[in-house]
Amino acid sequence: MTEPEPPSVAALSLADKATAPVSKATEQEINPWDVQAAVDEDGNALEFDYPAISAKWNTKLIDNVILERFERLTGRKPHRWLRRGLFFSQRDLDLILDTHERGEDWLLYTGRGPSSGSMHIGHSIPFEFTKWLQDVFDVPLVIMLTDDEKFLFKPELKQAEVYEYARENAKDIIAIGFDPKKTFLYIDSEFFTSGHNRHFDLNSNEFMKLLTNNQIRGAFGFTGSTNVGSNAFAAKQCVAAFASSYPFIWGEEGKSWNRHAKLAAIPCLIPCAIDQDPYFRLVRDNASRMDQPSPKPALIHSKFLTSLQGAGGKMSASNPNSAIYLSDTEKQIKKKINNHAFSGGQETLELHRELGGNPNIDVPYQYICYFDDDDERLEKFAVDYRKGEMLTGDMKKECIALVTHYVKDFQEKRAKVTDEILEVFMTPRKLEWNGNPNPTKPKKVESGKQKGSAEEVAKVDENGQPLTKNAMKKAAKLAEIERKKKEKEAAKK
Ligand code: TRP
Repeated sequence: MTEPEPPSVAALSLADKATAPVSKATEQEINPWDVQAAVDEDGNALEFDYPAISAKWNTKLIDNVILERFERLTGRKPHRWLRRGLFFSQRDLDLILDTHERGEDWLLYTGRGPSSGSMHIGHSIPFEFTKWLQDVFDVPLVIMLTDDEKFLFKPELKQAEVYEYARENAKDIIAIGFDPKKTFLYIDSEFFTSGHNRHFDLNSNEFMKLLTNNQIRGAFGFTGSTNVGSNAFAAKQCVAAFASSYPFIWGEEGKSWNRHAKLAAIPCLIPCAIDQDPYFRLVRDNASRMDQPSPKPALIHSKFLTSLQGAGGKMSASNPNSAIYLSDTEKQIKKKINNHAFSGGQETLELHRELGGNPNIDVPYQYICYFDDDDERLEKFAVDYRKGEMLTGDMKKECIALVTHYVKDFQEKRAKVTDEILEVFMTPRKLEWNGNPNPTKPKKVESGKQKGSAEEVAKVDENGQPLTKNAMKKAAKLAEIERKKKEKEAAKK
């Protein structure tokens, strides 16, 4: 036995409780390295307050107006994770929809920090959503695996080890079903030494010049003893949002030192969990200061996937019972949900029948919301649960069936992802996509020498009669004059 320890601070304060009550309450903490729910006076974790973080960071909540526009534009019902508020917040999503409406190019960008070799459903869901966006909009996508980031931030990790995690994660991500024609996936340590990264590297160096230590410390809470690499890494995750970092995707050369202004001007949409927002505020603040300026990247933010333990918990790779892993067996899934999933049901069957359960805090119900597309079925479960007609066991059974189906299906696809397939995704190359097949608004005129082409002006007169060639030429000339006038005005401003 060791010596008895001196009473801890907590014990002392408990003893003092009568004179000075100590509250255990803490506020929620959300940043890229630390996500903690608020804690009440008694030490219970509370649910994350998403409207509060949105208000604090000045993002826009996703509302019906934008969802309706989304549906009108794409002809697709918004994904259930949009309908049900899992993706709840955005920045400049309307500008991406404008770009799409005009039939112009834009880039999807997302990523993952490979801190372990195995991914859980909390990790795969953002990628499922990104794949859905890629399918709906038919746009190019880059996926960044930041093995360099994890190496810098996690003292215990070795470079070769994180690289292996990244490869395993990359295969998991590919198994989600991304289209190899439209997707460039890269592991930082590999791409950054590939020789195809000149424009990425030049962008990143230029961006580092724009960032001060104070800005980085302000955004991330770093101190003077944070390693230099961690301070500098932000630039990489930021410039990854510039299309000009990947000229090969557009079949452009990346040999010269000048990045392509035309590519830099291509807008980008980043689906990510809300904790990544501080990174992208940096790029939004500085994108216009680049030599070849880029628009502020747009963002679509998700909530954190609820851990099996429920309210205030985020699925965590360090606690195997907090999450369903993509490698879990049928048996493990069943056991985890039956034994570890927090239930909103009552203590006993009698009480449950009498009082009913609470689906809002019921983890199996939350998971059903993630995976079941059928809104009516979901509503029925909630109603029946509240009435006490549906039991905790019934809810768990439905949940187990859905999750098992998802994981099994995933595992079948994952088994087919070979090293060769991984190579295809990781090869810097020209991608192929179609974008919006029916642009409804005329193309925006590019700045520079380009003339107003016939495409940018009307091809019919007011009565819907086709214009003669001459009339079209005249209209093009007028459009060009109008454009120059606008450009001058803009320059004056
Ligand atoms: N920093 C992220 C993480 O630790 C990885 C990442 C890089 C990322 N680029 C991204 C995540 C873009 C979302 C979107 O997981």
